Parts: sequence; structure tokens; C-alpha cells
Amino acid sequence: MAVLTLRGFEIHKGFLDLDTQKKVVDAVREVVKVAPLFQPDTPYGKPMSVRMSAAGRYGWFSDKSGYRYVSEHPNGQPWPAIPEPVLSIWNQITDISRQPECCLVNYYAPDARMGLHQDKDEVDFQWPVVSVSLGDEALFRIGNTTRGGKTESIWLQSGDVVVMGGDARLTYHGVDRIKASTSTLLPKGGRINLTLRVVE
Ligand code: SIN
Ligand code: MN
Repeated sequence: MAVLTLRGFEIHKGFLDLDTQKKVVDAVREVVKVAPLFQPDTPYGKPMSVRMSAAGRYGWFSDKSGYRYVSEHPNGQPWPAIPEPVLSIWNQITDISRQPECCLVNYYAPDARMGLHQDKDEVDFQWPVVSVSLGDEALFRIGNTTRGGKTESIWLQSGDVVVMGGDARLTYHGVDRIKASTSTLLPKGGRINLTLRVVE
């Protein structure tokens, strides 16, 4: 298994074998049965192209009042617990005993994308964000710790895990596009991205 470092992001290529990827997808299916995917509006009033859900104490939400963590799904129910196979990725890849409080679930249909942004709604940036890619390949773009400047991109494949921490914790990143039909993991295609975060 290769680990690449790009602008301070640690990219663990092929961290999850196929069997583990399937177990994680099954666990995500259980999460979205209880906490169905929804399409948040950006604060600017445009719907995001990804569909989202979450597990853990907190989920992430956005509407015209802004971006924030919330303790309930829009349906008023608490988020389900973070599944064990997902927590196990955090525990294998970090040596941090503190456990994540949010597993954000992003589903990218073939035409979805995510603009360059920083993950900065958490209280303490000493904790990394751990990102898991499942399904179709995504062109992941990495910028700088301030907006603008040159960027570099890398294709993320199913089973890759990215650790965004240390000096790169506030580095801008986003997903330019998905390459449809590049994985058979999800029968209907598309990509699931999980991000594990310590929120409080
Ligand atoms: C994110 O930045 O929250 C998602 C990154 C990704 O989909 O790889
Ligand atoms: Mn992010």
C-alpha cells in the first residue's frame, strides 16, 4: 500500500481492501435507512450537488442561515451511531484515542461536484479530518491554506483514505468531477465519501 503526500495531505492508496469496502458500504446503507440522504442548500440559496447524511453525535447542515453542525437529521431524529467498521478506519490510520463525533456521508451522483472549501466548522483544528472514498473515481483538487493560488489534483479511487491534518488541516480542497462507471462497488454507480471529524 502506497502513501503519497500532496500539499500535506496523506493519501493512503488502496487502504481498504474490497471486502472491507463492501462492509463499509453495507454499514452506510444502514445509516441512510435511518437518516436518509438529503440535498442541503448553500447559504447562497443554491442546492449543493452532493446528497448528504451523517452518523455520530453531530451531522453537518447548511441552509440560508449558514454552515453548521447539528445534533439532529432534518427529520428531527438524532443521527445514528458511527458504524464500527468506519470507526475502525480512524483507529487504524490515526494513533489518536479521541474518537470522531461526526461521520459525514456525501453521495456524489455522476454529475455532482464540490467546490474548493476549508473544513473549518469544528472547534479544534489539532484533530485531523479522515476521508474515505468508495465507488467511482473522483478528481480531488488541493489548493492552499488561503483562497487562490496554484492547485494540484489527484484521482481518488475506491478504498483510498486521505488524512487532512497538521499544517494542512485548513488547506482548501474540493472535488472537480466524478468519472462514471470506474467502479462496480456501488451497483447504481456514483461515489460515497465519508469524512470523520472531531467536532467539539
Ligand atoms: C469533503 O471535502 O467534505 C469531501 C471530499 C471528498 O469528497 O473527497
Ligand atoms: Mn471538506
